[in-house]
Amino acid sequence: MVDKLSINDNRTGKKHELSLLHGTHVNAGSAISAKDLRDIKTSEKDFGVLVHDPGFMNTSACKSSITFIDGDSGVLLYRGYPIEELASKSTYLEVAYLLLHGELPDESEYDLWNADITNHTFLNEKIKKFLDGFRYDAHPMGILVSSLASLSTFYPKSRNVHDPKIRARSIRRLIAKIPTLAAFAYRYSVGLPYAYPDNDLSYSANFLNMMFRTTDTKYQPDPVLERVLDVLLILHADHEQNCSTSAMRAVASSDADPYVSVSAATAGLYGPLHGGANERVLEMLAEIGTVKKVGSYIEKVKQGEFRLMGFGHRVYKNFDPRAKILKNLASQVFEVTGKNKFLDIALELEKIALNDEYFIKRKLYPNVDFYSGIIYRAMGIPVEMFPVLFAIARTSGWLSHWEEMRNDPELRIARPRQIYTGYPDRGYVNMDSRKLKKIY
Ligand code: ACO
Repeated sequence: MVDKLSINDNRTGKKHELSLLHGTHVNAGSAISAKDLRDIKTSEKDFGVLVHDPGFMNTSACKSSITFIDGDSGVLLYRGYPIEELASKSTYLEVAYLLLHGELPDESEYDLWNADITNHTFLNEKIKKFLDGFRYDAHPMGILVSSLASLSTFYPKSRNVHDPKIRARSIRRLIAKIPTLAAFAYRYSVGLPYAYPDNDLSYSANFLNMMFRTTDTKYQPDPVLERVLDVLLILHADHEQNCSTSAMRAVASSDADPYVSVSAATAGLYGPLHGGANERVLEMLAEIGTVKKVGSYIEKVKQGEFRLMGFGHRVYKNFDPRAKILKNLASQVFEVTGKNKFLDIALELEKIALNDEYFIKRKLYPNVDFYSGIIYRAMGIPVEMFPVLFAIARTSGWLSHWEEMRNDPELRIARPRQIYTGYPDRGYVNMDSRKLKKIY
């Protein structure tokens, strides 16, 4: 294999040989080191060539062995295992272990891991006082972002990010406590008393317990819904260097502790172009209202008035394998919960969009969030909690990237460069000589 790339600099007539770095999958691509481009210069004083890549459309920021995506073929692998197999055979906690440790756990490793997570589900009671400070109508995602950061003050030792044992403890705490924080945020926003974790239940069943338990002494969710929630968590657990994971890596690269770093990643996820999309899908379906209005809504999308939420993906340009799995799961959920009108509108929307030139040309297909919102809604989960559930699932992914990054000899503080487009040097202007600029 040719492992050098030649660049002819027409300015100087020099030829530069750049080494190529290859991934381990046939479709993983290869990269040159951006630093090598600095040697391509016209003079000693010249800064050299930079890579200009807003939105990181084609920039590799790290080496990672956690997740592989082949967007053109609709392939998603966690540690080499296809997402379809993990979604049909594993539990979420097993997948979290796989992402973090690189291998699926054997029985004793799994039992220990499960017990470890379960033992950390409770929160310090003072968190309740912290939550008390929020307005009655606070969005649970805002509550989650802040309360996650507050955990940093409860566990000050976690600031020692160089100690693998302390890191391991923080990882367990975060995976265990985020469902409790999330459910507390919800209970607070609807004025219900907090429901404490039930450590006899599975990870997903316990979350449903903390969300929905009222007067029952023992809450037991429907097994189909418990499994569907677990699969949803598996599907959202990791997705390589997306916006929130990049936020996690960037913030943690300054040696910030994992609680504030996960809080920053959660903030990245909050936006409607990322984890907030499933919330917007439901708002969109509610706005459309009836199957009959789907056609006119699509016309407005094509006129550029707004985007079709739950459609399109930066990486998947053929289909999103997670969306395929969820479409099948949706029918299982509706057998338990009964159908709701949103499904019919969504299916019509999908049918029209997939046959429309505008969407075909731009390779816009339903993404994972197109179906997850409809399923969550049918399960009785309120719309504001959709991105929160995404955050619960993605915590294991963020932490896997954090652990990988901490062990990476190439780790440097994240500090992108820029192409400066402002004034060149200019002389200072004293106040009395400045012209008033109209700024309103
Ligand atoms: N509806 C209508 N048109 C769209 C959509 C959409 N959902 N998404 C992209 N387009 C169009 C753009 O207008 C653009 O058209 P143009 O070439 O005529 O200007 C073209 O498709 C390319 O769009 P980009 O914004 O360049 O695509 P990018 O890869 O940057 O964006 C993104 C990906 C952000 C996911 C986008 O498709 C989008 O906004 N989708 C809706 C929000 C959504 O569902 N997000 C969830 C993503 S999945 C996740 O985070 C788990």
